[in-house]
Amino acid sequence: MQNYREQAVRIISSLVEMDEEKINPLLVTPPDPKMGDIGFPCFLLAKMMKKSPMEIADELAKKEPESKVFSKIAAVGPYLNFTINPAGMISSTLSEVMNNEKSYGSSNIGNGQTVIVDYSSPNIAKPLAIHHIRSTIIGAALCRIYRYAGYKVEAINHLGDWGTNFGQLMVSYKKAEALNPEQKVNISELLRLYIQFHKDAENDSSLQEEAKAWFTKLENGDEEAVRLWKLFCEESLKSFKALYKRLGVEFDYYTGESFFNDKMDACLELIAEKNLSEVSDDALVVKLEDYGMPPCLLRKKDGSTLYATRDLAAALYRYDKYKFDKCLYVVANQQELHFRQINKVLELMGYDWSKNMVHIKFGMLSFGAGIFDNQGEDRVTGSTRKGNIVFLEDVRDKATAKARALLEGGSKDPDIADKIDSLSEDIGLGAIIFNELAQRRMKDVIFTWEKALNLQGDSGPYLQYTHAR
Ligand code: ARG
Repeated sequence: MQNYREQAVRIISSLVEMDEEKINPLLVTPPDPKMGDIGFPCFLLAKMMKKSPMEIADELAKKEPESKVFSKIAAVGPYLNFTINPAGMISSTLSEVMNNEKSYGSSNIGNGQTVIVDYSSPNIAKPLAIHHIRSTIIGAALCRIYRYAGYKVEAINHLGDWGTNFGQLMVSYKKAEALNPEQKVNISELLRLYIQFHKDAENDSSLQEEAKAWFTKLENGDEEAVRLWKLFCEESLKSFKALYKRLGVEFDYYTGESFFNDKMDACLELIAEKNLSEVSDDALVVKLEDYGMPPCLLRKKDGSTLYATRDLAAALYRYDKYKFDKCLYVVANQQELHFRQINKVLELMGYDWSKNMVHIKFGMLSFGAGIFDNQGEDRVTGSTRKGNIVFLEDVRDKATAKARALLEGGSKDPDIADKIDSLSEDIGLGAIIFNELAQRRMKDVIFTWEKALNLQGDSGPYLQYTHAR
């Protein structure tokens, strides 16, 4: 586009008394491509030439400037509009793409600056649920774009691998194991145990106490608690990594919340040194009411730290280690307050770099009724506790099956049988990924197969088809 603008500037400067440097910033993009691709407003000239801008645009067009790259140069109201010759643009763009296959569109604007992208970051012992799909896909796209623009990217998976829910899981696991020594720990079983705990706890209030006790054991390094925690983490990671691999998603670091356990005291000390923390209702907090926010909770009554404490420690660690120029958190909109609080606390601590931490928030993805065979009429929004949740794996499998049906119905390729497995997965995943990235980020999206697999355009399969052609 830059080239075309330069060409337009050259033509305009041959028609009017105006320096090229003055013309360039005036150029606009007409609201409708039917009006042209580049517009030159004639308002500035009106004063100089003592004519109306429309008259001037008309006059300039009548001079019929010659050009190979523009198929039309015409007056549209007070603008002189340039329409790019599409055949020329297509052939020059395609040859540029072909000649720079690996680097077309790349740049060095990042100049080696470091960007941290914290994304996906699911919680251990729960399968990757649908609200993580957006973070995973948006985050992976951001990593690629930043790398392509010459930034040094550190992709971090801030796993949710610490917290009282591990105590709950241990309670249910121990119960199940007592009944059946062969009790499994794979990811779906872990989710089942988690749901079971919440069902049981509704009728038996002592279970929550028991869970707390298990978590305390874990925090104190009790052998059995640590063994179980490790097992839960390993099993969950196995399943996450399999899915990441199929999505082509990679991380430089899997530093989850537990990684910061031994960095928490130093972080709390730093906050205290700056006189920011205080005890309120037996909990340690940073009051933020002057900034229109509820207090940021650092340590609970029982001494345990929180999600926010771990994020504060993580930010300090990341800045210390990477001296990042930007740190992006690709996390759902619901956590807006959390990130504003973290940011404010760091700012109050005097860390100027906190302004380079950005919450890349996004709206919710939901599924309409009946989109999965097993979901009945429920609209699924992802409440893990009740087990009312859509898994990324199910979405992928369903997408693959849908794509397979399309191929079986419509392919004219005689060898289709040999390729159908890998093709349908590529098309299914492509449909999901494209559908994610094609939405406005903050919009709540209702997923439909009709849109995701639309063969007429604006879909992953259509893009793949265009590329293949
Ligand atoms: N584990 C969290 C969740 O699933 C997301 C973590 C995002 N990253 C962070 N640094 N807080 O909601």
